Amino acid sequence: MRVVQPIEWTDAGVVMLDQRRLPTEVVRYTYTDYRDVARAIADMVIRGAPAIGVAAAMGVALGVLHSRAQTPEELRAEYEIIHRTLAATRPTAVDLFWALDRMKQRFEALLAESAPLERIRQELIREAQQIHAEKRAIDEAIGRFGAQLLPHEGKVMTQCNAGALATGGIGTALGIIRMAVAEGRRLHVLVPETRPYLQGARLTAWELQQDGIPLTLITDNMVGHMLRSAQVCAIVTGADRVAANGDTANKIGTYQMAVLAHEHGVPFYVAAPLSTLDLTIPSGDHIPIEQRRPEEVTHLAGVRIAPDVPVANPAFDVTPARLITAIVTERGIARPPYEESLRRLAAEASSVSPGSACTPPARAVE
Ligand code: MRU
Repeated sequence: MRVVQPIEWTDAGVVMLDQRRLPTEVVRYTYTDYRDVARAIADMVIRGAPAIGVAAAMGVALGVLHSRAQTPEELRAEYEIIHRTLAATRPTAVDLFWALDRMKQRFEALLAESAPLERIRQELIREAQQIHAEKRAIDEAIGRFGAQLLPHEGKVMTQCNAGALATGGIGTALGIIRMAVAEGRRLHVLVPETRPYLQGARLTAWELQQDGIPLTLITDNMVGHMLRSAQVCAIVTGADRVAANGDTANKIGTYQMAVLAHEHGVPFYVAAPLSTLDLTIPSGDHIPIEQRRPEEVTHLAGVRIAPDVPVANPAFDVTPARLITAIVTERGIARPPYEESLRRLAAEASSVSPGSACTPPARAVE
C-alpha cells in the first residue's frame, strides 16, 4: 500500500514534509540539527503521536551524529541536553517519551559495552530507522485487526488525522479504514474538520482523496446531527496516550464524539500501538494536556476571526474508558475491562524481541 511519507532518514539529514502547508503545498525540509527537529515537532511541521516519536528518535540520532564530542564520555553529557530538548517539545503524546527512552536505553547499552564513538553513532542511526520500520509494520497489524470491526458497507467517522502523516506507516485509524477498503469493504468516511488546527480538513481529507476513498468533510458541530441522521456504523480514532484503565487522550473533540456515539449506540473504536499505552498512570486524570497558542483559535490561515478576548486552546481531551467499545493494538483487540486486557497485551509484547511484535496472533483479547 503506497502512502505519503511524512519523515525519512537520508544521507543528507532528516527530511520532513511540512504538514502545516498541506493540502495546498507539498514542501519538504532537510534538517541536520537536532534543535531544528525539536522546533519542527513543537511547531507541528510533523505531528501525530507515532510520527512525533519517530521524529524524536531521528532527532537524537542527528544530535549524536553531529556532536563535537571526542569520546563516549563527552557524548554522554551532550546526549542529556539533546534528550531534554526533544522531550520538552510536546507533553501529551507518550510515543515521544517512549521513543526517547528506547534511544537512551540503546545508548546506555553501547556505553556499557565500551563501544567506540563511531559505532555509537551508527547504532543510534540504525535504532531510529528501526523504530520507523516497526511503526510501518505495527500500522499494518492494527489495520488487519481493526478492519474486521468495520461493516462490509456503510459510513464510518474519524477524528483529526491518524493517517500516514501521523505515523510514518499507513496510519492507525486510517490504516484500519485503508485495510478494510483494500479487503473490498465499501466505506464512506465522515471527516470532521477538527478545529482549531484543522487536521481533519487539511490532512485526513487530503489523504483519503489521494487514496480514492469516498469521504464527506463536515464541521465539528455537525457530528451529533450526523450520528442521529446519517446511519454511521462506527467511529475510529487514534490516540495520544492510553492510561492503564483504558482512558484515552486524543485530539480535542474526541470526547464529545464518544459521548454522542454512546447516545446513538454507535461503536467507538480507538486504534493505538502499544507504544501509546502508558501503564504507569492508572487513569486519564494523570495525562498532561497540552495548551497551545490562542492564535490557533482567534485566527484562521493568518486572518483574525475573533476579537482580542480570553481564549482556551487545550489540544487534547480524555475519553473515559467506559465510552470506548474496543482498543485495537498491533497485538490484538482489547475489550473492557481494559485494566486486564491492555496489561495482558503489553506483557505479551514485552516478552518477544523488538520487531516480532509485528507478527501478532490473529485473535482478540476479551
Ligand atoms: O496535535 P496533533 O495533530 O499531533 O494530534 C494528533 C492526534 O490527536 C492523533 O489522533 C493522534 O496523535 C493519533 S495519530 C496516529
